[in-house]
Amino acid sequence: MPAAHSRRFRDGKTLAGELSAAMHRIGALGVPYPDGYCDELIGKYEKDGVPYPHILSILGEPRIRSHFFYARMLKRTGPFLDYGCGTGDNIRQLLRDGFPRAQITGFDLSWESINLGFDLYRDEKSIRDLFVVNGTFLFGKETFDTIYSGSVIHVIADDDELCGYLNNAWAALRPGGNLFGSTLGIDDGDSCAPDEHGPPRVIPRQELTRHLMAAGFLSPTLVKRPHEAHTPDDKKCVFEFCTKKSG
Ligand SMILES: C[S@@+](CC[C@H](N)C(=O)[O-])C[C@H]1O[C@@H](n2cnc3c(N)ncnc32)[C@H](O)[C@@H]1O
Repeated sequence: MPAAHSRRFRDGKTLAGELSAAMHRIGALGVPYPDGYCDELIGKYEKDGVPYPHILSILGEPRIRSHFFYARMLKRTGPFLDYGCGTGDNIRQLLRDGFPRAQITGFDLSWESINLGFDLYRDEKSIRDLFVVNGTFLFGKETFDTIYSGSVIHVIADDDELCGYLNNAWAALRPGGNLFGSTLGIDDGDSCAPDEHGPPRVIPRQELTRHLMAAGFLSPTLVKRPHEAHTPDDKKCVFEFCTKKSG
C-alpha cells in the first residue's frame, strides 16, 4: 500500500481533472464510455484517492512506447514480465503493438492500480488473466526473456527492498535476457531529496548503475529524458535504462 503522501496530486491537479483527462486519451484509443461514467469513477475514487496519482497523467500514453529499447524488445517473442505493472498501461501498449499475448505477464504487489486500469479501459474480462498479484515475487529462475520496470525503482525507498527487487529480476531472467525500464533520477550532483509530492527515491546516475551491477547485471545503458512534472531549472529527470544478464 503506497504511503498517504503518494496519493496526493501536485500542482493544483485534482482527481476529477486527471480522471477526465485520462478518459479523454483512453477514449481516443477506442474505449467507449457510457453517460455519467466519469462521475461514477470520481465517486468511486474520491474517498481513498488513487495510488501514485501521477500515473493518471500518462495513462494512455505509457512511457514504454518511447523507451530506447522498446522497438528492439517488440521483435522478440519470448516471455515478458512487467514487474510492478500498476494499471497495466504498458501491457495494453504491447498488445496494441502486436506482442504475443501468451507471452505477457504483469505482476504487482496489489490489485489496486490494476483495478483502476480495468475501470478506465473497461477491459477486465478480456485481460485479467495476464495479471498476477502477490505479496512476494513468485516466479521461478530463468523464466523470462525480458523484464520491464517502469517507475518502480523510484517508489522503493528502502535500499534492501530495492536490492531484493533487482535480485528477483536478475534471477527470473534467462541468461542473455534484458531488464529495461525507467525511473526518476538526477543527473547533476550526487544526491537529491524527494519533493513533497514526488516519489521517495530520486536516484543519481552512478547509484542506479551501482544497484543494477550489484544485482549481477552488466553495466547498463542510461538515457536521460525530461520528466513531465518538473521545471526546466530543476535537475530531476527520468533515466531510461537497459541492462542484460550475461548469457
Ligand atoms: C508508480 S507505479 C508504476 C506502474 C507502472 N509500472 C507504470 O509504468 O505505469 C509503481 C508500481 O510499482 C509497484 N511496486 C512497488 N514496489 C514493488 C515491488 N517490490 N514489487 C513489485 N511491484 C512493486 C507498486 O505497487 C505500483 O503499482
